[in-house]
Amino acid sequence: MNISSQVSITVSSLTRPDEIAVCARMMATSEPWITLGRDYEAGIKTLTAPGKEIYLARIENDIVGFTILNMRGAFIGYIQTLCIAPEWRSRGIGSQLIAFAEERIFRESPNVFMCVSSFNHNAQRLYQRLGYEVIGELKDYLVTGHSEILLRKMIASLSDFAKNPHPAEHP
Ligand SMILES: CC(C)(COP(=O)(O)OP(=O)(O)OC[C@H]1O[C@@H](n2cnc3c(N)ncnc32)[C@H](O)[C@@H]1OP(=O)(O)O)[C@@H](O)C(=O)NCCC(=O)NCCS
Repeated sequence: MNISSQVSITVSSLTRPDEIAVCARMMATSEPWITLGRDYEAGIKTLTAPGKEIYLARIENDIVGFTILNMRGAFIGYIQTLCIAPEWRSRGIGSQLIAFAEERIFRESPNVFMCVSSFNHNAQRLYQRLGYEVIGELKDYLVTGHSEILLRKMIASLSDFAKNPHPAEHP
């Protein structure tokens, strides 16, 4: 990645209906959601489901990307969705948003989980570079013919994290 093309973002929580619409549109018009058959309405459903934390990446006032985190359930610390507006991709914004998500998740749990589609080779390369380990393949999970690959980044076992939730070596 060309470092000189990197840009700085501010991150804030999603709060308004117009922000939901912008994010749903961004998803519905982009891979991998096109291949996964997720349209605008599906995006609205995802973005309004209870129990999620949604963070927006902004440059000045424009929403240039967002991430949806699930901080509940067995796979607590799950990055459910990550999307950067097409015109802003490959400028370090996704990496900054992942760093923000990791910081948020590692305050509560020692694992970050996410899934990436088997056909999304560019995103897989990014996650590998950021230290994510492949845990397994969920065959025919969202759509027939494609897998979801479960990824994990960890800083401690659950029991060590419970004893010391702020290890000095947090990345
Ligand atoms: C994947 C994504 C979130 C990364 O954000 P980004 O701001 O583009 O990423 P960064 O600039 O921090 O890092 C660049 C890397 O992202 C990946 N990337 C770039 N464009 C991409 C695209 N259209 N789709 C998937 N990954 C892409 C590449 O690995 C790239 O590395 P490279 O420069 O060595 O090719 C963003 O490209 C995106 O929203 N893509 C479409 C939706 C998607 O695939 N989301 C992830 C679902 S798991």
